[in-house]
Amino acid sequence: MVKCFIPHLVFGVLAVLGVSLVNAEDPYLYFTWTVTYGTRSILGVPQQVILINGQFPGPKLDVVTNNNIILNLMNKLDQPFLMTWNGIKQRKNSWQDGVLGTNCPIPPNSNYTYKFQAKDQIGSYTYFPSTLMHRAAGGFGALNIIHRSVIPIPYANPDGDFTLLLGDWFKTNHKTLQQSLESGKSMPFPDGVLINGQTQATFTGDQGKTYMFRISNVGLSTSLNFRIQGHKMKLVEVEGSHVIQNLYDSLDVHVGQSITILVTLDQPPKDYYIVASTRFTKTVLTATAVLHYANSNAPVSGPVPAAPANGFDWSMEQARTYRY
Ligand SMILES: *[C@@H]1O[C@H](CO)[C@@H](O)[C@H](O)[C@H]1NC(C)=O
Repeated sequence: MVKCFIPHLVFGVLAVLGVSLVNAEDPYLYFTWTVTYGTRSILGVPQQVILINGQFPGPKLDVVTNNNIILNLMNKLDQPFLMTWNGIKQRKNSWQDGVLGTNCPIPPNSNYTYKFQAKDQIGSYTYFPSTLMHRAAGGFGALNIIHRSVIPIPYANPDGDFTLLLGDWFKTNHKTLQQSLESGKSMPFPDGVLINGQTQATFTGDQGKTYMFRISNVGLSTSLNFRIQGHKMKLVEVEGSHVIQNLYDSLDVHVGQSITILVTLDQPPKDYYIVASTRFTKTVLTATAVLHYANSNAPVSGPVPAAPANGFDWSMEQARTYRY
């Protein structure tokens, strides 16, 4: 049974038909990524992780609307590897989507070149491995599509741009997790929450300036509530669409979801907690990072701001306020 398309055959047919997959007028960006195992002590114990070009999380892919991405991915794992570009519409080339059924996994010690265009898209997205629980070990990263400078956006250009990959994390090896799931057990409770693959990230900005925060939940099983001590968050984009710009004290970010907010550093010069904590769980896991004002001499202090007391209803109500 054919489980996935062999892309060069499809390309060949389309080439004969004269269909262009990528738009020749738009710039091309070339990348070579090597996927390997590595060892990192993320929650205090050494564990096997998946690196891209030696990095965990993987490199940030910053592209501009309509850019063509040509990305040669070398798989140095001992298992087949398949990468998905979450949110990229893959118009006319769905077999580049990196999910089983449309795209063949890359065998060990082989490579494959993903070709796709960020056609007419903007927004904060992620890429991640889509098979064999690889995502539990890493291999994920940010994929940001920045608007073309000639296209107006419904807010002033921010003074800076931060990417925050939030996610629950397991100390268990991805192969063990997969075996456990296949034997019929459910996912274990995570061991922690990470922000950009760490437990102590710092983001530095200037007092009075406004920063874009591109926030994604790259975890496996838990929704996360995100908040910044003493600061309001203006939501400007969800899943590639500009939204009505409401202000929030905290925002729920569900697994696989990405949002973009603007935050003005309008508070006294000091350091502030950035918090991501699990939602709808009996035990609450919390990760903190630091928003550091460049002119601050004061470390973070005071209680870590609390998540909203209400659960599902609050979260649903909040999702309803994201009007496009
Ligand atoms: C594999 O990588 C080589 C060397 O970079 C490249 O020439 C070749 O086109 C790649 N093959 C595929 C299928 O992407």
